[in-house]
Amino acid sequence: MNPSDSLHRFYSGFVDKYDLFASWEERKRREGRFFRQILQSNGVESVIDCFCGTGFHVAMLSEMGYHVDGIDISPHMIRKAKENLKDMGLDDRVRVGDVKELVAGEKYDCALSMGNSLPHEFGDENVLKALEGMYGALKYGGIVIIHMENFDRLYEDKERFIPSVYRRTGDGTEAFIFAIDYYEDRVVFNILSLIERGGKPGFEVDVVEYNPINVESLKRLLKEAGFSGLALYEDFMMRPLGRDGTYDLIVVARKRQVSDKRKQLYFLEDAKG
Ligand SMILES: C[S@@+](CC[C@H](N)C(=O)[O-])C[C@H]1O[C@@H](n2cnc3c(N)ncnc32)[C@H](O)[C@@H]1O
Repeated sequence: MNPSDSLHRFYSGFVDKYDLFASWEERKRREGRFFRQILQSNGVESVIDCFCGTGFHVAMLSEMGYHVDGIDISPHMIRKAKENLKDMGLDDRVRVGDVKELVAGEKYDCALSMGNSLPHEFGDENVLKALEGMYGALKYGGIVIIHMENFDRLYEDKERFIPSVYRRTGDGTEAFIFAIDYYEDRVVFNILSLIERGGKPGFEVDVVEYNPINVESLKRLLKEAGFSGLALYEDFMMRPLGRDGTYDLIVVARKRQVSDKRKQLYFLEDAKG
């Protein structure tokens, strides 16, 4: 099966569990302060979420006052995002789209790849195309924020089972456990979910493959795409990467300002018509 078929198959099965697995309230508590700080200190007004999933960042950042658009390659995730965003009047801000095919509009101050999205791309060529898509969407001076697993750390420990969520609410119980298979060129997350409603347990397994992009490759590809000024963190508290050795990796990088020399060149070219 090619990677894009397996991606569509995974999200068609997982879409209705996704927001249980990653509850919006918990995510707001975890990520809110980070975004306020980074976006304010970089003078951001507009954001494109290039892997918007079920719409969490579109909603949270719109609530904070930013203009946010979202694209996602999965029609299932976009259907869910529209449902989630309807009451906020934001459902027309999201559409189906592939980040690798984004038209370079240079419209946004910030581009996002959150929630381990970039590692859905396999091969340096595709990762680079995705980064170039985000680069093209940004104005000069704009920033990209990438949040993903720290695969260097995961491969150091090669933990087979990672309990991810256990939650009891008025509706029932939700538990998610990751069983991970580590290979040289891919890592397979088998997600076991146990969702109990009205005393009836439902047990399912969903399987998703990722490209275990290591930190050095990501840094190299970001630079190749044109980004500079990389800052690397290990959590949303903005602790520098490597301090406590978490399994999270967050990178913030900038699309270089056009130099005055290049601006002049553009000006001369325009003048020539
Ligand atoms: C793990 S989800 C994360 C969603 C969201 N960013 C979040 O944090 O909740 C990854 C998403 O990336 C999307 N995706 C994968 N490849 C993509 C591509 N080439 N272009 C746009 N979206 C893509 C998937 O469909 C999926 O919705």
